[in-house]
Amino acid sequence: MVKLPHPDPISGADYSAAELTPDDATLLLLDQRRLPREERYEHVSEWQAAAAAIQDMIVRGAPAIGIAAAYAMVLAARQARTDYWTEMVAAGAGLRAARPTAVNLAWAVDQCLELARAHRASAYVDRVDAMAALARSIHRDDVAANRHMGRLGAGYVPDGAVVLTHCNAGALATGGYGTALGVVRAAHAAGKQVRVLADETRPFLQGSRLTAWELAREGIPVTVIADGAAGSLIARGRVDLVVVGSDRIARNGDVANKIGTYPLACVAKQHAVPFYVAAPVSTVDLGTDSGEAIPIESREMQELTEWSGRLVTPPGVPAENPAFDVTPAGFVSAIFTERGVVTPVSAENLARVVEYETGMETGNRE
Ligand code: MRU
Repeated sequence: MVKLPHPDPISGADYSAAELTPDDATLLLLDQRRLPREERYEHVSEWQAAAAAIQDMIVRGAPAIGIAAAYAMVLAARQARTDYWTEMVAAGAGLRAARPTAVNLAWAVDQCLELARAHRASAYVDRVDAMAALARSIHRDDVAANRHMGRLGAGYVPDGAVVLTHCNAGALATGGYGTALGVVRAAHAAGKQVRVLADETRPFLQGSRLTAWELAREGIPVTVIADGAAGSLIARGRVDLVVVGSDRIARNGDVANKIGTYPLACVAKQHAVPFYVAAPVSTVDLGTDSGEAIPIESREMQELTEWSGRLVTPPGVPAENPAFDVTPAGFVSAIFTERGVVTPVSAENLARVVEYETGMETGNRE
């Protein structure tokens, strides 16, 4: 185990998906492909390597890749010595292209580009300083958002609840604390007895490797289940609620999340089990009308056909590997954000919460 090589991580924990060293020179990325067996940090000093790390899932999870990209833009500002603006635009395009579904990535890059434009004529040191300050504030805001939405969401978790989650929407997928797992953490911290069922989440195993690692480390009871077991456990009354994160929420409240989320939502609806989504407003994309318009990443078929580098399917048989699916708004009982809880989920209620910092619930549940 390698300790997080940072004196004061913004994650607020003794591990972090992404941190920038105090001298702004190095992006530290916890290599999530190696967890839970090995806790190792990649040291990244060029934006191109950061883009590759996002693509290769060294860092993953919608808010975490947005934060990593913002830190990568700091590296880009350090690298840009000849034509600052052109080089920053190229870095922004390269980072945005790394993964298409999580809107947090484009959201963070766009903020960095806006700042870069404003600093076109500034001195080198000032450009780097300003970019580092912005990236760290994006990171800090995400942790604060997670803690706040966690507290709001915890109000929907009964004492003694069994909570089913899919993928990893925890500290590893965010700046720290987590979205769906932030809700679990907040309920646990409030003294509730909560037990988590973690879908293993094939093919990348974010549930069995990452969610289980995070929760076990904190002493929150977690049991891993095969993805295919979730439906019958819900049907048999073994699950009190489902909570997941999201990579992009369309204007009408449709939710893109890890592949396998939609069938869970269908079964939850069929058996009247609440299905909640926890996500910061940086995940809401009011510019995308509905889930149909959300780009769905298709990943390499080797993630399915190979296991530890060895072929597990008959040679020549292809595989299809969509990384995300879309759950229609009508299947979602509530969306927890840092600005309030959206319930019932509708375009109007979502816009009201996202566009105004009321911090108030839009629906009729306290
Ligand atoms: O492919 P991944 O691991 O990046 O997918 C991540 C998810 O689908 C998470 O559930 C989502 O990003 C929410 S993270 C708070």
